[in-house]
Amino acid sequence: MTPLQTEHRSDVDPLLQLDDVRTHFKTERGRVRAVDGVSLTLRRGRALGIVGESGSGKTVLSRTIMGLLPSTAEVTGSIRYSGTELIGRGRGGMRGFWGREMSMVFQNPMVSLNPVMKVGEQIAEPLRLHLGMSRSDAKATATRLLTDVRIPEPERRIDQYPHELSGGMRQRVMIAIALACGPSLLFADEPTTALDVTVQAQILELIAEQRRDRNMSVVLVTHDLGVVAGHTDDIAVMYGGKLVETAPTTLLFSEMRMPYTMSLLRSIPRLDDPSHTRLPVIAGRPPDLVAPPSGCRFAPRCAYARERCHQEEPPLVPTSHPDHLYACWYPVGSDEFNEREADLVRSGAVPVAIARGEQK
Ligand SMILES: Nc1ncnc2c1ncn2[C@@H]1O[C@H](COP(=O)(O)OP(=O)(O)O)[C@@H](O)[C@H]1O
Ligand code: SF4
Ligand SMILES: [Mg+2]
Repeated sequence: MTPLQTEHRSDVDPLLQLDDVRTHFKTERGRVRAVDGVSLTLRRGRALGIVGESGSGKTVLSRTIMGLLPSTAEVTGSIRYSGTELIGRGRGGMRGFWGREMSMVFQNPMVSLNPVMKVGEQIAEPLRLHLGMSRSDAKATATRLLTDVRIPEPERRIDQYPHELSGGMRQRVMIAIALACGPSLLFADEPTTALDVTVQAQILELIAEQRRDRNMSVVLVTHDLGVVAGHTDDIAVMYGGKLVETAPTTLLFSEMRMPYTMSLLRSIPRLDDPSHTRLPVIAGRPPDLVAPPSGCRFAPRCAYARERCHQEEPPLVPTSHPDHLYACWYPVGSDEFNEREADLVRSGAVPVAIARGEQK
Protein backbone atom coordinates (compact mmCIF):
# COMPACT_ATOMS: atom_id res chain seq x y z
CA MET A 1 0.00 0.00 0.00
CA THR A 2 1.36 3.43 -0.89
CA PRO A 3 1.49 6.15 1.79
CA LEU A 4 -1.27 8.04 0.03
CA GLN A 5 -3.90 5.41 -0.61
CA THR A 6 -5.76 6.32 2.55
CA GLU A 7 -6.02 9.98 1.56
CA HIS A 8 -8.37 11.89 -0.66
CA ARG A 9 -7.23 11.90 -4.28
CA SER A 10 -8.98 13.98 -6.85
CA ASP A 11 -7.92 14.91 -10.35
CA VAL A 12 -8.69 18.57 -9.77
CA ASP A 13 -6.33 18.75 -6.77
CA PRO A 14 -2.80 19.70 -7.66
CA LEU A 15 -0.32 16.87 -7.38
CA LEU A 16 2.30 19.18 -6.01
CA GLN A 17 1.92 22.55 -4.31
CA LEU A 18 4.99 24.52 -3.22
CA ASP A 19 4.67 27.59 -1.00
CA ASP A 20 7.62 29.84 -0.24
CA VAL A 21 10.12 26.99 -0.32
CA ARG A 22 13.63 27.90 0.81
CA THR A 23 16.62 25.59 0.81
CA HIS A 24 19.71 27.11 2.37
CA PHE A 25 23.04 25.36 2.94
CA LYS A 26 25.30 26.17 5.86
CA THR A 27 28.85 26.47 4.52
CA GLU A 28 32.14 27.98 5.72
CA ARG A 29 31.56 30.89 3.36
CA GLY A 30 28.17 31.56 4.85
CA ARG A 31 24.60 30.60 4.05
CA VAL A 32 24.05 29.55 0.39
CA ARG A 33 20.49 30.53 -0.56
CA ALA A 34 20.18 27.89 -3.28
CA VAL A 35 16.37 28.02 -3.38
CA ASP A 36 14.94 31.23 -2.00
CA GLY A 37 11.18 31.50 -1.81
CA VAL A 38 9.73 29.37 -4.61
CA SER A 39 5.95 28.87 -4.91
CA LEU A 40 4.44 26.80 -7.70
CA THR A 41 1.76 24.26 -8.56
CA LEU A 42 1.95 21.11 -10.64
CA ARG A 43 -1.24 19.48 -11.83
CA ARG A 44 -1.70 15.75 -12.34
CA GLY A 45 -0.58 14.42 -15.68
CA ARG A 46 1.13 17.67 -16.67
CA ALA A 47 4.73 18.29 -17.66
CA LEU A 48 6.51 21.22 -16.06
CA GLY A 49 9.86 22.48 -17.34
CA ILE A 50 12.18 24.12 -14.82
CA VAL A 51 14.64 26.21 -16.81
CA GLY A 52 17.60 28.40 -15.91
CA GLU A 53 21.34 28.66 -16.27
CA SER A 54 23.66 26.40 -14.34
CA GLY A 55 23.62 27.31 -10.64
CA SER A 56 20.11 28.77 -10.59
CA GLY A 57 18.83 26.19 -8.08
CA LYS A 58 17.00 23.73 -10.36
CA THR A 59 18.61 20.57 -9.04
CA VAL A 60 18.41 21.70 -5.42
CA LEU A 61 14.70 22.47 -5.87
CA SER A 62 14.04 18.99 -7.35
CA ARG A 63 16.07 17.30 -4.63
CA THR A 64 14.23 19.35 -1.99
CA ILE A 65 10.90 18.01 -3.25
CA MET A 66 12.28 14.46 -3.33
CA GLY A 67 13.83 14.86 0.14
CA LEU A 68 17.29 14.02 -1.20
CA LEU A 69 19.50 16.64 0.42
CA PRO A 70 22.64 16.57 2.56
CA SER A 71 22.37 17.30 6.28
CA THR A 72 23.77 20.83 5.77
CA ALA A 73 20.49 21.82 4.08
CA GLU A 74 17.81 23.77 5.94
CA VAL A 75 14.41 23.66 4.27
CA THR A 76 11.47 25.91 5.14
CA GLY A 77 8.08 26.61 3.58
CA SER A 78 5.57 24.02 2.47
CA ILE A 79 5.63 21.21 -0.11
CA ARG A 80 2.33 19.39 -0.33
CA TYR A 81 2.24 16.23 -2.41
CA SER A 82 -1.31 15.13 -3.08
CA GLY A 83 -2.27 17.09 0.04
CA THR A 84 0.43 15.58 2.27
CA GLU A 85 3.14 17.86 3.71
CA LEU A 86 6.62 16.63 2.82
CA ILE A 87 8.82 19.16 4.59
CA GLY A 88 10.10 17.91 7.93
CA ARG A 89 9.73 14.20 7.13
CA GLY A 90 13.43 13.47 6.81
CA ARG A 91 14.83 10.68 4.65
CA GLY A 92 13.12 7.99 6.73
CA GLY A 93 9.73 9.62 6.23
CA MET A 94 10.33 10.08 2.50
CA ARG A 95 11.37 6.52 1.78
CA GLY A 96 7.78 5.38 1.25
CA PHE A 97 7.39 8.01 -1.48
CA TRP A 98 10.49 7.10 -3.46
CA GLY A 99 9.93 4.86 -6.44
CA ARG A 100 6.19 4.41 -5.94
CA GLU A 101 5.13 8.08 -5.78
CA MET A 102 8.09 9.97 -7.21
CA SER A 103 11.37 9.09 -8.82
CA MET A 104 14.22 10.77 -10.63
CA VAL A 105 16.22 10.29 -13.83
CA PHE A 106 19.64 11.83 -13.33
CA GLN A 107 21.90 13.60 -15.82
CA ASN A 108 24.66 11.07 -16.11
CA PRO A 109 23.62 7.41 -16.34
CA MET A 110 27.24 6.25 -16.15
CA VAL A 111 27.50 7.68 -12.62
CA SER A 112 24.06 6.53 -11.49
CA LEU A 113 24.17 2.96 -12.83
CA ASN A 114 26.13 0.31 -10.99
CA PRO A 115 28.91 -0.76 -13.40
CA VAL A 116 29.23 -4.28 -11.97
CA MET A 117 25.53 -5.18 -11.92
CA LYS A 118 23.54 -6.45 -14.89
CA VAL A 119 20.96 -3.91 -16.08
CA GLY A 120 18.11 -6.35 -15.51
CA GLU A 121 19.08 -6.74 -11.86
CA GLN A 122 19.26 -2.96 -11.48
CA ILE A 123 15.70 -2.62 -12.76
CA ALA A 124 14.49 -5.59 -10.70
CA GLU A 125 16.00 -4.29 -7.46
CA PRO A 126 13.43 -1.52 -6.75
CA LEU A 127 10.62 -3.90 -7.78
CA ARG A 128 11.67 -6.38 -5.11
CA LEU A 129 12.53 -3.70 -2.55
CA HIS A 130 9.50 -1.40 -2.89
CA LEU A 131 6.85 -3.70 -4.31
CA GLY A 132 7.98 -6.97 -2.69
CA MET A 133 7.99 -8.86 -6.02
CA SER A 134 9.50 -12.32 -6.30
CA ARG A 135 12.74 -12.74 -8.24
CA SER A 136 11.03 -14.24 -11.29
CA ASP A 137 8.19 -11.68 -11.34
CA ALA A 138 10.71 -8.86 -11.03
CA LYS A 139 12.72 -10.25 -13.96
CA ALA A 140 9.62 -10.54 -16.14
CA THR A 141 8.58 -6.98 -15.23
CA ALA A 142 12.11 -5.70 -15.92
CA THR A 143 11.96 -7.23 -19.42
CA ARG A 144 8.61 -5.55 -20.03
CA LEU A 145 10.01 -2.21 -18.82
CA LEU A 146 12.91 -2.51 -21.26
CA THR A 147 10.34 -3.02 -24.01
CA ASP A 148 8.41 0.04 -22.74
CA VAL A 149 11.53 2.20 -23.04
CA ARG A 150 12.09 0.87 -26.59
CA ILE A 151 15.21 -1.16 -25.98
CA PRO A 152 15.46 -3.79 -28.74
CA GLU A 153 16.06 -7.44 -27.80
CA PRO A 154 15.19 -6.89 -24.12
CA GLU A 155 15.74 -10.58 -23.23
CA ARG A 156 19.36 -10.26 -24.30
CA ARG A 157 19.96 -6.73 -22.96
CA ILE A 158 18.71 -7.64 -19.51
CA ASP A 159 21.83 -9.75 -18.89
CA GLN A 160 24.27 -7.09 -20.09
CA TYR A 161 26.33 -4.65 -18.06
CA PRO A 162 26.02 -0.83 -18.46
CA HIS A 163 29.32 -0.52 -20.39
CA GLU A 164 27.93 -2.83 -23.09
CA LEU A 165 25.21 -0.27 -23.91
CA SER A 166 25.39 3.07 -25.77
CA GLY A 167 24.81 6.35 -23.90
CA GLY A 168 21.25 6.60 -25.18
CA MET A 169 20.49 2.99 -24.17
CA ARG A 170 21.90 3.60 -20.70
CA GLN A 171 19.63 6.61 -20.28
CA ARG A 172 16.70 4.40 -21.37
CA VAL A 173 17.68 1.93 -18.65
CA MET A 174 17.72 4.79 -16.11
CA ILE A 175 14.23 5.74 -17.24
CA ALA A 176 13.09 2.11 -16.89
CA ILE A 177 14.43 2.05 -13.30
CA ALA A 178 12.66 5.32 -12.51
CA LEU A 179 9.38 4.02 -14.01
CA ALA A 180 9.62 0.57 -12.41
CA CYS A 181 7.35 1.17 -9.42
CA GLY A 182 4.80 3.24 -11.35
CA PRO A 183 5.43 6.72 -9.89
CA SER A 184 2.89 9.55 -10.24
CA LEU A 185 5.70 12.07 -10.58
CA LEU A 186 8.93 11.73 -12.55
CA PHE A 187 11.80 14.19 -12.26
CA ALA A 188 14.16 14.25 -15.22
CA ASP A 189 17.17 16.39 -14.31
CA GLU A 190 19.05 17.37 -17.49
CA PRO A 191 18.27 13.88 -18.84
CA THR A 192 19.74 14.52 -22.27
CA THR A 193 22.70 16.80 -21.61
CA ALA A 194 25.29 14.04 -22.12
CA LEU A 195 23.69 12.81 -25.36
CA ASP A 196 23.95 13.85 -29.00
CA VAL A 197 21.11 15.82 -30.56
CA THR A 198 19.29 12.94 -32.30
CA VAL A 199 19.35 10.75 -29.19
CA GLN A 200 18.27 13.76 -27.07
CA ALA A 201 15.11 14.09 -29.14
CA GLN A 202 14.36 10.35 -28.85
CA ILE A 203 14.76 10.39 -25.06
CA LEU A 204 12.50 13.45 -24.67
CA GLU A 205 9.91 11.79 -26.89
CA LEU A 206 10.15 8.61 -24.80
CA ILE A 207 9.55 10.54 -21.57
CA ALA A 208 6.56 12.33 -23.14
CA GLU A 209 5.12 9.05 -24.42
CA GLN A 210 5.48 7.35 -21.02
CA ARG A 211 3.87 10.34 -19.34
CA ARG A 212 0.83 10.03 -21.60
CA ASP A 213 0.60 6.24 -21.26
CA ARG A 214 0.90 6.32 -17.48
CA ASN A 215 -0.87 9.63 -16.79
CA MET A 216 2.22 10.67 -14.86
CA SER A 217 3.34 14.19 -14.05
CA VAL A 218 6.83 15.10 -15.22
CA VAL A 219 9.23 17.78 -14.04
CA LEU A 220 11.83 18.33 -16.75
CA VAL A 221 14.85 20.23 -15.46
CA THR A 222 17.16 21.81 -18.02
CA HIS A 223 19.38 24.81 -18.76
CA ASP A 224 18.09 24.75 -22.34
CA LEU A 225 14.81 26.52 -23.11
CA GLY A 226 14.84 24.75 -26.48
CA VAL A 227 14.58 21.34 -24.77
CA VAL A 228 11.37 22.20 -22.91
CA ALA A 229 9.70 24.00 -25.81
CA GLY A 230 7.99 20.98 -27.36
CA HIS A 231 7.83 18.71 -24.32
CA THR A 232 6.13 20.60 -21.50
CA ASP A 233 2.73 22.12 -20.69
CA ASP A 234 4.14 24.76 -18.36
CA ILE A 235 7.49 26.39 -17.78
CA ALA A 236 9.03 27.86 -14.63
CA VAL A 237 12.13 29.98 -15.19
CA MET A 238 14.58 30.19 -12.27
CA TYR A 239 17.31 32.73 -11.66
CA GLY A 240 19.50 32.94 -8.58
CA GLY A 241 17.32 30.60 -6.51
CA LYS A 242 14.08 32.37 -7.38
CA LEU A 243 11.26 31.89 -9.79
CA VAL A 244 11.31 34.84 -12.20
CA GLU A 245 8.68 33.87 -14.78
CA THR A 246 6.16 31.07 -15.11
CA ALA A 247 3.48 30.41 -17.70
CA PRO A 248 1.88 27.77 -19.90
CA THR A 249 4.57 26.90 -22.47
CA THR A 250 2.96 28.40 -25.58
CA LEU A 251 2.11 31.61 -23.71
CA LEU A 252 5.64 31.91 -22.39
CA PHE A 253 7.08 31.72 -25.89
CA SER A 254 4.56 34.12 -27.40
CA GLU A 255 4.43 36.68 -24.61
CA MET A 256 7.50 36.41 -22.43
CA ARG A 257 7.87 39.36 -20.09
CA MET A 258 11.11 38.78 -18.24
CA PRO A 259 14.31 40.01 -19.97
CA TYR A 260 16.13 37.01 -18.47
CA THR A 261 13.74 34.58 -20.19
CA MET A 262 14.26 36.51 -23.41
CA SER A 263 18.04 36.21 -23.03
CA LEU A 264 17.67 32.44 -22.58
CA LEU A 265 15.55 32.29 -25.73
CA ARG A 266 18.00 34.39 -27.70
CA SER A 267 20.84 32.10 -26.72
CA ILE A 268 19.18 28.88 -27.96
CA PRO A 269 21.48 27.43 -30.62
CA ARG A 270 19.65 27.03 -33.91
CA LEU A 271 20.93 24.30 -36.20
CA ASP A 272 19.00 25.75 -39.13
CA ASP A 273 20.22 29.30 -38.57
CA PRO A 274 22.94 30.26 -41.05
CA SER A 275 22.68 33.98 -40.32
CA HIS A 276 25.00 33.99 -37.30
CA THR A 277 22.79 36.65 -35.75
CA ARG A 278 22.04 34.78 -32.56
CA LEU A 279 23.50 36.14 -29.35
CA PRO A 280 25.80 33.49 -27.89
CA VAL A 281 25.55 33.49 -24.09
CA ILE A 282 24.29 35.89 -21.47
CA ALA A 283 27.18 38.16 -20.50
CA GLY A 284 28.40 38.07 -16.90
CA ARG A 285 28.04 35.40 -14.26
CA PRO A 286 25.08 34.13 -12.25
CA PRO A 287 24.87 35.68 -8.77
CA ASP A 288 26.78 34.50 -5.73
CA LEU A 289 24.04 32.91 -3.65
CA VAL A 290 25.86 33.63 -0.37
CA ALA A 291 25.60 37.38 -1.01
CA PRO A 292 23.06 37.89 -3.81
CA PRO A 293 22.72 41.38 -5.27
CA SER A 294 20.03 43.60 -3.77
CA GLY A 295 16.95 44.47 -5.81
CA CYS A 296 16.46 42.28 -8.87
CA ARG A 297 19.08 39.51 -8.82
CA PHE A 298 19.45 39.79 -12.61
CA ALA A 299 20.14 43.55 -12.50
CA PRO A 300 23.98 43.39 -12.73
CA ARG A 301 23.64 41.51 -16.06
CA CYS A 302 20.43 42.99 -17.44
CA ALA A 303 20.71 45.32 -20.43
CA TYR A 304 17.33 46.86 -19.53
CA ALA A 305 18.08 47.58 -15.83
CA ARG A 306 17.48 51.01 -14.36
CA GLU A 307 18.13 52.47 -10.91
CA ARG A 308 15.03 50.95 -9.34
CA CYS A 309 16.14 47.43 -10.36
CA HIS A 310 19.21 47.71 -8.12
CA GLN A 311 17.22 48.97 -5.15
CA GLU A 312 13.89 47.13 -4.99
CA GLU A 313 13.14 43.49 -5.58
CA PRO A 314 10.39 43.05 -8.18
CA PRO A 315 7.53 40.84 -6.92
CA LEU A 316 6.14 37.97 -8.97
CA VAL A 317 2.92 39.40 -10.46
CA PRO A 318 0.37 38.07 -12.95
CA THR A 319 -0.17 39.42 -16.45
CA SER A 320 -3.76 39.65 -17.71
CA HIS A 321 -3.50 35.86 -17.92
CA PRO A 322 -3.62 34.61 -14.30
CA ASP A 323 -1.34 31.60 -15.01
CA HIS A 324 1.41 33.86 -16.35
CA LEU A 325 3.55 35.42 -13.63
CA TYR A 326 6.74 37.44 -13.95
CA ALA A 327 9.07 39.42 -11.71
CA CYS A 328 10.36 42.52 -13.49
CA TRP A 329 10.00 46.30 -13.18
CA TYR A 330 10.47 46.96 -16.92
CA PRO A 331 9.12 43.91 -18.72
CA VAL A 332 9.41 43.10 -22.41
CA GLY A 333 7.01 45.40 -24.26
CA SER A 334 6.98 48.20 -21.65
CA ASP A 335 7.91 51.72 -22.77
CA GLU A 336 11.15 51.61 -20.79
CA PHE A 337 12.04 48.25 -22.30
CA ASN A 338 11.29 49.43 -25.86
CA GLU A 339 13.32 52.58 -25.39
CA ARG A 340 16.36 50.60 -24.22
CA GLU A 341 15.89 47.96 -26.94
CA ALA A 342 15.90 50.69 -29.61
CA ASP A 343 19.21 51.99 -28.19
CA LEU A 344 20.66 48.47 -28.24
CA VAL A 345 19.61 47.92 -31.86
CA ARG A 346 21.02 51.35 -32.87
CA SER A 347 24.36 50.56 -31.26
CA GLY A 348 24.44 47.12 -32.92
CA ALA A 349 24.45 45.25 -29.56
CA VAL A 350 21.19 43.49 -30.55
CA PRO A 351 20.91 42.49 -34.22
CA VAL A 352 17.71 43.71 -35.88
CA ALA A 353 16.57 40.16 -36.68
CA ILE A 354 16.77 39.21 -33.01
CA ALA A 355 14.99 42.35 -31.83
CA ARG A 356 12.15 41.56 -34.24
CA GLY A 357 11.89 38.08 -32.81
CA GLU A 358 12.82 36.41 -36.09
CA GLN A 359 14.99 33.98 -34.14
CA LYS A 360 12.03 32.32 -32.51
N1 LIG B 1 25.37 20.70 -0.86
C1 LIG B 1 25.54 21.99 -1.16
N2 LIG B 1 26.17 22.84 -0.34
C2 LIG B 1 26.32 24.15 -0.66
N3 LIG B 1 25.87 24.70 -1.79
C3 LIG B 1 25.24 23.91 -2.66
C4 LIG B 1 25.03 22.51 -2.41
N4 LIG B 1 24.38 21.97 -3.46
C5 LIG B 1 24.18 22.99 -4.34
N5 LIG B 1 24.70 24.15 -3.85
C6 LIG B 1 24.66 25.46 -4.51
O1 LIG B 1 23.31 25.76 -4.79
C7 LIG B 1 23.23 26.54 -5.98
C8 LIG B 1 22.22 25.91 -6.92
O2 LIG B 1 22.74 24.69 -7.40
P1 LIG B 1 21.95 23.72 -8.37
O3 LIG B 1 20.59 23.51 -7.87
O4 LIG B 1 22.80 22.51 -8.54
O5 LIG B 1 21.90 24.54 -9.72
P2 LIG B 1 21.37 24.07 -11.15
O6 LIG B 1 20.83 22.68 -11.02
O7 LIG B 1 20.35 25.07 -11.53
O8 LIG B 1 22.57 24.12 -12.04
C9 LIG B 1 24.64 26.60 -6.55
O9 LIG B 1 25.19 27.85 -6.18
C10 LIG B 1 25.33 25.48 -5.87
O10 LIG B 1 26.71 25.74 -5.74
S1 SF4 C 1 13.65 44.11 -12.89
FE1 SF4 C 1 15.11 45.37 -13.99
S2 SF4 C 1 17.03 44.23 -13.86
FE2 SF4 C 1 15.40 42.81 -13.35
S3 SF4 C 1 14.93 41.82 -15.27
FE3 SF4 C 1 13.51 43.55 -15.05
S4 SF4 C 1 14.52 45.24 -16.13
FE4 SF4 C 1 16.08 43.67 -15.79
MG1 LIG D 1 21.46 20.94 -12.00
